[in-house]
Amino acid sequence: MAQLIQPDGHCLFLPVDHGYFQGPTRKLEEPRKTIKPLFPHCDAIFITRGVLRSSVDPNNSKPIILRVSGGTSMVGKDLANEGITTSMEEAIRLNVAAVGLSIFVGTDYEHDSLLNLSKLVDEGEKYGIPVMAVTAVGKELGKRDTRYLALSCRIAAELGARVVKTYWCEDFEKVVRGCPVPVVMAGGPKVDTEFEVFKFVHDGIQKGAIGVNLGRNIWQNDFPVAMIKAIRAIVHENASPKEAQDLYDSIKSEKRKS
Ligand code: 5RP
Repeated sequence: MAQLIQPDGHCLFLPVDHGYFQGPTRKLEEPRKTIKPLFPHCDAIFITRGVLRSSVDPNNSKPIILRVSGGTSMVGKDLANEGITTSMEEAIRLNVAAVGLSIFVGTDYEHDSLLNLSKLVDEGEKYGIPVMAVTAVGKELGKRDTRYLALSCRIAAELGARVVKTYWCEDFEKVVRGCPVPVVMAGGPKVDTEFEVFKFVHDGIQKGAIGVNLGRNIWQNDFPVAMIKAIRAIVHENASPKEAQDLYDSIKSEKRKS
């Protein structure tokens, strides 16, 4: 975990794993091109083995969180029906810092996904590889309310996840309070303005999240480097949403001039 969480106790993970069920989703069509400019600004990258092998420079020096669940697609019957796709031996061979998988609480596949988590934790603990649980909602974005997310996060922690990725919600402190392991926030589908992202990231950090695992709202932005730098300032330098916006605007206008 010390590879992932920085000495200030915070972290910025960059997820680029979306293709494992979304295919070549917008602005992640060519993962190498998306990842390269953002790589220096993240603390770790959340990625599948296929994209790690094909699209990340082998000399990279960033910790890897390997996405090891999948087996479903946007056009299939049920996104929740995931299995474990990558063995612990492969994760070790790829020299990863952690592995991550999704759980689907409240779905027809709740039981399977929670047992997947438990088995992965058993395997990971043998080798000192922490597991990040992703509280997934599939296509049901409306599920991102406090009660549901608090329930999912707590279950993930109880089953042995070392860190839990969830969505920001109102009363986020209730989610964090009920989860005895560190919580990081995802962003979900891209929202309309940068300021909305800065506001919820700031709020979540104030309420106890240790950082973010935030993808589309960074790399689907027209100025992804400005975006990641601004979010980094909130996570690691305690910047306010307004300061983050100012930073974003100044990097964006420099970029426009060049
Ligand atoms: C997708 C994931 C992502 O890692 C997670 O949702 C974070 O990305 P975003 O901020 O784009 O929601 O688990 O499979």
